Amino acid sequence: MSAVRFRLWPKGAPLHTWETWINSPPFQSNFQWEFPRDNSWFVWILRQFYAGEMTGLLEGKAILYAPNLEAADFLASQIQDEIRHAKLYAAQILKYQDSQNLKIPRILEIIIAPTSGRLWYEHCFLDKALGELWVYALMLFLIQTLPDPKLKKILYSIAKDEMRHIRFGREQTKKALQQNPKDAKYLWGLYLWQKTAMKILLQSVTYLLKKKKREDLAHQTKLFYNQASQLIEQEIQTLLFQEKPLHPNGKIRSACRFAWRKLVYRRFYKLSM
Ligand SMILES: [Fe+2]
Ligand SMILES: [Fe+2]
Repeated sequence: MSAVRFRLWPKGAPLHTWETWINSPPFQSNFQWEFPRDNSWFVWILRQFYAGEMTGLLEGKAILYAPNLEAADFLASQIQDEIRHAKLYAAQILKYQDSQNLKIPRILEIIIAPTSGRLWYEHCFLDKALGELWVYALMLFLIQTLPDPKLKKILYSIAKDEMRHIRFGREQTKKALQQNPKDAKYLWGLYLWQKTAMKILLQSVTYLLKKKKREDLAHQTKLFYNQASQLIEQEIQTLLFQEKPLHPNGKIRSACRFAWRKLVYRRFYKLSM
């Protein structure tokens, strides 16, 4: 970690674990990037981030179903954030590769995009509270392991914006749950659905890394996934079930069954709720 410390939230603001972890990323790892050896894989990650920011521009569509002006105002500011992030990533990509190629790898589009939310509260939960949390976790990992302090600083500034989007997603999810507390299990089902997509993404990435004889990176990717998914699962359980996490052997199983049934019904049989 760099000696520079960044305060992300105003003094007195309620602190959440994820928000505090930015100052001390929680990942157990001795991994350090080595450049230029790791250029191509680092650029690959940056291009995924860039692709994510470009899909973030779809927030323009979400404005059409924002429930009120405040939410629409937030989305407009988020679009500006995502455009700024896309430009920052594009500049970094050009530093680490010789060509001007900004072609987006299709892996995210194919595996993750179908798990995006359709309704307002699904969108806030899946795309913001959960999806952006995955991105945030990867950013924390990079901040922890990258050698270049300037690049860490850029990532910190982007991570700060991402946490603002995550917080908005969390607040909107909580509001939706206040109105319909029973939807917690449905959202849990959506989480499990996205988790499956993440698992497929993990398998594809580790397969590619092993094919390129980068067992070390494949091992690190798995390690990161396991640690991040555990932390994210705790976060999601707290968000959905208010400090009463599901018991691994009892409630989790019945909640999974319930959530999957509801998910399949709502997603594939019933087009609107
Ligand atoms: Fe972003
Ligand atoms: Fe974002």
